[in-house]
Amino acid sequence: MKLKVYGNQKVNGVVPISGAKNSALPLLAASILSVNGLKLTNVPLLADIETTLSLLESLGVAYRVDQESLYANTVELKTGSIYNFTAPYETVKKMRASILVLGPLLTRFGRCRVSLPGGCSIGVRPIDLHLKGLEALGAKIELKDGYVHAVAPKGLKGANFDFPIATVTGTENIMMAAALADGTTVLRNAAREPEIVDLANCLNAMGAKISGQGTSVVMIKGVSSLRNTTEYRVMPDRIEAGTYAIAAGITKGRVDLIGGNFRELLPTFIEKMERIGLEFSDIENGLRAESSGEIAPVDVSSDPYPGFPTDLQAQTTALLCLADGESTVTENIYENRFMHAAELMRMGANITISGDKACVKGVEQLTGAPMMATDLRASFSLILAALAAKGDSVVDRIYHLDRGYCCVKEKLASCGVTVDRIS
Ligand code: EPZ
Repeated sequence: MKLKVYGNQKVNGVVPISGAKNSALPLLAASILSVNGLKLTNVPLLADIETTLSLLESLGVAYRVDQESLYANTVELKTGSIYNFTAPYETVKKMRASILVLGPLLTRFGRCRVSLPGGCSIGVRPIDLHLKGLEALGAKIELKDGYVHAVAPKGLKGANFDFPIATVTGTENIMMAAALADGTTVLRNAAREPEIVDLANCLNAMGAKISGQGTSVVMIKGVSSLRNTTEYRVMPDRIEAGTYAIAAGITKGRVDLIGGNFRELLPTFIEKMERIGLEFSDIENGLRAESSGEIAPVDVSSDPYPGFPTDLQAQTTALLCLADGESTVTENIYENRFMHAAELMRMGANITISGDKACVKGVEQLTGAPMMATDLRASFSLILAALAAKGDSVVDRIYHLDRGYCCVKEKLASCGVTVDRIS
């Protein structure tokens, strides 16, 4: 499946922002912890959500999906009869976030087998810290035949664990495991992303006792079981919001991002976009992003929250290709997250990569070209460049796009922009 992107378009309209992929995925995994299941609202319509639901079903979780609105589903999960504790390679290789069932299965059932995720295009992405954290809670971990075999026959025990580096899903996995451990766990250098706060708030609604979420020290007082009947609304997707803000910036247009407090969710990103030439103003239940007509060069470096999100680096690099000057983009989180650069250069971008830095020399104009998406966020960066380019483009392998962005054609159409799926 490919996406035809017509050039010289201007974004001008309203985009309802969906529930956050990177919150919905851990929240779905968290349902495993509860005897009484979990009901989630504002769940985005994404391939990764479907993959996670089929993984949960293979474990014995029953679920029901109801359409809540044009861009959101309600998902009700029943977890009273989980009988299988293996997450197979076929699923995990499709989506690394499947590793998030490891903590919940282990702490509730005392054993599980989860395939090692393997690398992905943006980096090796090890899970060593997930495993070290579980061992700190008393788990016995063995790596065999490409699987993590984890057992905790007497259950997990609360402990202190210091993360050598801040890891988002690592923090989420250990936080979920600690929720049913015997005793108190204190995590230091925990990741501070808003999606972690969302997960902790949902776990507390389910009956867990977590505090400090959003700071680098998170305390979890273990409880014997989670029994509260819980309905929880997934937070809005700050990465989707940032992506559409850049769409306004690169096409010199304007977009109203509806459905969240995006100033709070994207502090550093907004500050950088203002320096590049985007103007932000608060509107009813959202934020307006409007181009000043300028795209100024700015140096950007990705860091853990509240720093500049690595998941908006590729999209920002596309924007800076049209800046009136030279910018340096530094990628501090992943070792190989500049693959979009080679594709952007086919449109006439002037980018030089050396190590963790991309030097972007702004050009007058990009020209449309056939391109290939390499990973989820890169796929949208190519679309952004293509919208502003002279002439039309075709982006191939947009299954990457469908993993993390729902209803792109419809949402762009609501901003007066046309793209077409072609086989
Ligand atoms: C989460 O991935 C997100 N995915 C990623 O979003 C996001 O890019 C990333 O956090 C950083 O913000 C989900 O939440 C499902 P990390 P995660 O563990 O948790 C190293 C997207 O586009 N590390 O915070 O896998 C790792 O190699 C995706 O939506 C270890 O060394 O990222 C990386 O360099 C892409 N050992 C750094 O930590 C470990 O055990 C941060 O990775 C774990 C991580």
